[in-house]
Amino acid sequence: TGISIIGAPVWLGQTHYGTNLGPYALRAAGILDALTLLTADVIDAGNIAADTKKRSKQRRSRLKNLRAVVTANEELAEMVSLATGRHRFPLVLGGDHSIAIGTLAGLARHYHNLGVIWYDAHADMNTPETSPSGNIHGMPLAASMGLGHPSLVQVAGYMPKVKPENIVFIGIRDIDPGERELIRTQKIKQFTVADINERGMPQIIRETLDYLLSRCDGIHLSFDLDGIDPSAAPGVGTPVPGGISWADSLLAMQELAHSGQITSAEFVELNPLLDKDQRTTQATVRLVSLLFGGSAVTAARQELPAA
Ligand code: ARG
Ligand code: MN
Ligand code: MN
Ligand code: MN
Repeated sequence: TGISIIGAPVWLGQTHYGTNLGPYALRAAGILDALTLLTADVIDAGNIAADTKKRSKQRRSRLKNLRAVVTANEELAEMVSLATGRHRFPLVLGGDHSIAIGTLAGLARHYHNLGVIWYDAHADMNTPETSPSGNIHGMPLAASMGLGHPSLVQVAGYMPKVKPENIVFIGIRDIDPGERELIRTQKIKQFTVADINERGMPQIIRETLDYLLSRCDGIHLSFDLDGIDPSAAPGVGTPVPGGISWADSLLAMQELAHSGQITSAEFVELNPLLDKDQRTTQATVRLVSLLFGGSAVTAARQELPAA
């Protein structure tokens, strides 16, 4: 079974123009060639067609650009569902994290107990009532659990997509009060940076998989680049210090690859316009390569300029 790359050039889930350039930057950095070296069957399915350039005018809503974000996610759900139905591995390139709504909506049509590894500085579990910003990229996990604005919750025409007991947070450290309450009442599993430092990343990944594999029929990796410390991944709109180290992030991908249990993935929040020397773009290509079994050495070679 091969990989289907799906681009979701969306930025209206937050306020910094540029996350929409993520899929283009990753393709320009050679993500297709890198993956083709590892797995012969790689298809670039292209981008969702929805035009997410226009801000939507919904002055009554507290949610920014609700219409545009919903339209993009409806389309992404279809593309992800199509790839999954063909038994391919959907690899979604964001885009801000609001696109997880569409990714999860497409996946959960096929997996009835979808496990989700949420690698992020943020919990992204706000509802319109608890959101401090009105930015939809802070809401995708709540929406996927069935909480929030009806048009977000109902993307792809059904709800919920994810059960709280099938979610694992890795690296969250900037959590809003409403999110904290939801994590507590829903008893959502989380591993902090302190846990990682204490037990080591390989052990954290093994615990994550043990926890999910008892129930789940598929495991999705939702990788927000701001989960990594901003010193290693500066090209993001909402950086939070005290993040997961670069070395630990490489170990996480290697351990996930080694498990053979990941069935889909998305890499989100890369903003090439906020990046320094393409560091975050290059980092993403390396992480994706490792997730598909590339060696750290091969990944390092990709950083060398072509001869
Ligand atoms: N919690 C904040 C909010 O709701 C920040 C969310 C950042 N999310 C992200 N995917 N980077 O606005
Ligand atoms: Mn984040
Ligand atoms: Mn905050
Ligand atoms: Mn996020």
